[in-house]
Amino acid sequence: MDNVSFLIEKLYMEGWLRDEEFLEVLIHHGENEIRNLLAEYARKTAHRYYGNKVYTRGLIEFSNYCRNDCYYCGIRRSNSHAQRYRLKKEDILTCCDEGYNLGFRTFVLQSGEDGYYTDELLIEIITDIKRRYPDCAITLSLGEKEKESYQCYYDAGADRYLLRHETSNAQHYRCLHPKELTSEHRKQCLRDLKAIGFQTGCGIMVGSPSQTLRHIVEDLHFMKELQPEMVGIGPFLPHHDTPFYNEPAGSFTLTLTLLSIIRLILPDVLLPATTALGTIDPQGREQGILAGANVVMPNLSPVAVRKKYMLYDDKICTGDEAAECRVCLSNRMKRIGYELVTDRGDSIRKLEEKRICTINIH
Ligand code: 5AD
Ligand code: FES
Repeated sequence: MDNVSFLIEKLYMEGWLRDEEFLEVLIHHGENEIRNLLAEYARKTAHRYYGNKVYTRGLIEFSNYCRNDCYYCGIRRSNSHAQRYRLKKEDILTCCDEGYNLGFRTFVLQSGEDGYYTDELLIEIITDIKRRYPDCAITLSLGEKEKESYQCYYDAGADRYLLRHETSNAQHYRCLHPKELTSEHRKQCLRDLKAIGFQTGCGIMVGSPSQTLRHIVEDLHFMKELQPEMVGIGPFLPHHDTPFYNEPAGSFTLTLTLLSIIRLILPDVLLPATTALGTIDPQGREQGILAGANVVMPNLSPVAVRKKYMLYDDKICTGDEAAECRVCLSNRMKRIGYELVTDRGDSIRKLEEKRICTINIH
């Protein structure tokens, strides 16, 4: 414990550890005292940038068609049991209307990799949302695309893009995906997104099949190098209609430990307490915030389609209406001393960069 406490303090002070030291901390994820100490430093760090504010994003899962076949994912193309759906532009706009009235100032548009939504159609959707809600941010989560496509979404007004890298180790990537998908291409997409100017989010599943703690340390290196504005992590959870149906779920305590570590290596990062974390433990999202996360993403999708966007089994929040999801999360946050705010919730680093640019121009 003493040695690990020392390492945790070093991580807090210096923002980084050697590989073997990271491993030492990760190995102890099951010990409450260790996790509490890490969480304390992570909270302190989050407070410095964000106080007790929790940012919120309205998640609109607008299509569960996907051309890919990731072994872990419930909406993979080979899953013939998935009931497929697509929302029309008007349906998406209705979700945004409802979300705006509830206090959401960021909309996350997420889908499988679905060619039905051409760049033209996506540009139309982005432009229409921005026209109606110029004070809102749009986050896209549409998978791997050509750089030109990313650029035209950005030009149309999209602000952020989430694309988890899933694992930065090429061999491990191979264990999770068919060969058409490569870790190198995924990383290139992330670099393209950063270069275009998106607030960019990467991330992993914790405890995905074949993952080792060393892989996780490699992921920390990748995050440090990429300097993402957002990082999304949650435990791997098996889906019964995928090749990984029989694999064990990822560890809750390891996920919490990693949230704290990520907060300490990327102090101002936007870090959600994810739905998967809330699924593996009823207090998961609260515990995530207390471990250093500062974002939650309640579901804004129409209730009729929620059960169809099943990436993994037993996903929570598939029944309630949007208002209930928001109120429920707001109350949960209040109970642990945090406030769900009505705010775009931009990356502080990006805002600062913009401010410096404006000063230079004038
Ligand atoms: N368990 C946990 N997370 C999953 N995702 C996809 N399938 C699963 C699963 N079975 C995550 C992936 C993906 C994000 C949208 O959801 O990390 O990038
Ligand atoms: Fe759709 Fe992986 S199954 S991107």
